[in-house]
Amino acid sequence: MPRAAAIIRAGGLVAFPTETVYGLGANAFDAPGVARIFEAKGRPTFDPLIVHIAERADLTRLFTDVALADPRITILADAFWPGALTIVAAARPEVPGLVRAGLNTVGVRLPRHETALALIRAAGTPIAAPSANRFGRLSPTTADHVLEQLDGRIDAVLLGEATDIGVESSVVALESSGPARLLRHGGIPLEDLARVLADHGGIVAVAPTAQPGVPLQAPGMTESHYAPIVPLLLVTEEFPAGVTECALLAPDRTTLTQLEGLAAASGATVHASVALSESLDPVAAAAHLFERLHELEATLLRSAVPAAKIIAAPYPEGGLGSAIADRLRRAAATPQ
Ligand code: TXA
Ligand code: MG
Repeated sequence: MPRAAAIIRAGGLVAFPTETVYGLGANAFDAPGVARIFEAKGRPTFDPLIVHIAERADLTRLFTDVALADPRITILADAFWPGALTIVAAARPEVPGLVRAGLNTVGVRLPRHETALALIRAAGTPIAAPSANRFGRLSPTTADHVLEQLDGRIDAVLLGEATDIGVESSVVALESSGPARLLRHGGIPLEDLARVLADHGGIVAVAPTAQPGVPLQAPGMTESHYAPIVPLLLVTEEFPAGVTECALLAPDRTTLTQLEGLAAASGATVHASVALSESLDPVAAAAHLFERLHELEATLLRSAVPAAKIIAAPYPEGGLGSAIADRLRRAAATPQ
């Protein structure tokens, strides 16, 4: 355990058993460590990750004070923690954008499995962890499943008692108004959640119900994704006509210099210009992608030029780069 905890503290990846499925964990507050999770999974896109805690007191590091004032958090935690329930609520700004996939909320779970709890305690930090499978493969319920898929791509696997639930946690979102929303069916049945929340606005299921004999819906299908308020245009060779005010975003310094040249030649005013990393480094780029997008957006909103746009050069495909490229494409495709 001390070795696994040291790996987490150093920004590495440790797979660990929970009572639902095996998770692939990194320090939730270490953005490059979290980026390595996506790299190891070969995930072509960034989905928000669940942050695992060992003490309820750690919620104050993750949820805003306003979110924590919601009595439903205590009600749900008293009823189902430790256990197979993830609570989604407003995130503190310190939670890395990559953990939240750019959303302003974060999902948190206090697991019951002793090995998971021991790892979180020894590491001294909340641990962000998706299921420990390669993209598109089944969620693992044994250390052997994990090794079949991820051997050589992660730093350690912890052995422990079997994952007795075997399906992922139920994901419940709490907003400042309206009933709780079930985003993903999982280890805690909707009926149990509804009973506990009956006097507190109830709960509506937005996740499709699993059919008997059909595996649970894949996670990631119900979450909304970050989309900039300021339009984002992906450019390859030509600077888009009619853009006179912009912020620039490029995969690396060299591409950024080219983009700056194009902007200057077209006479556009550049309010900010950002390289995702100095030379192409997908782990570093992914770690801060959402923060950089938010910063560029904030700069342009402050400039108060209504037609301002974020002009981005596409990220090269391959490995973790494909996930970055996917998010930029989605941001660009948002209807304005
Ligand atoms: O049982 C589990 O939940 C396992 C173990 C390891 O804890 N973890 C797991 O993680 O299933 P993952 O990454 O496979 O699924 C996480 C899902 C996301 O795809 C999304 O559906 C939801 O949880 N989620 C997490 N954070 C969210 C947020 N801020 N807003 C909406 N949905 C969120
Ligand atoms: Mg999964």
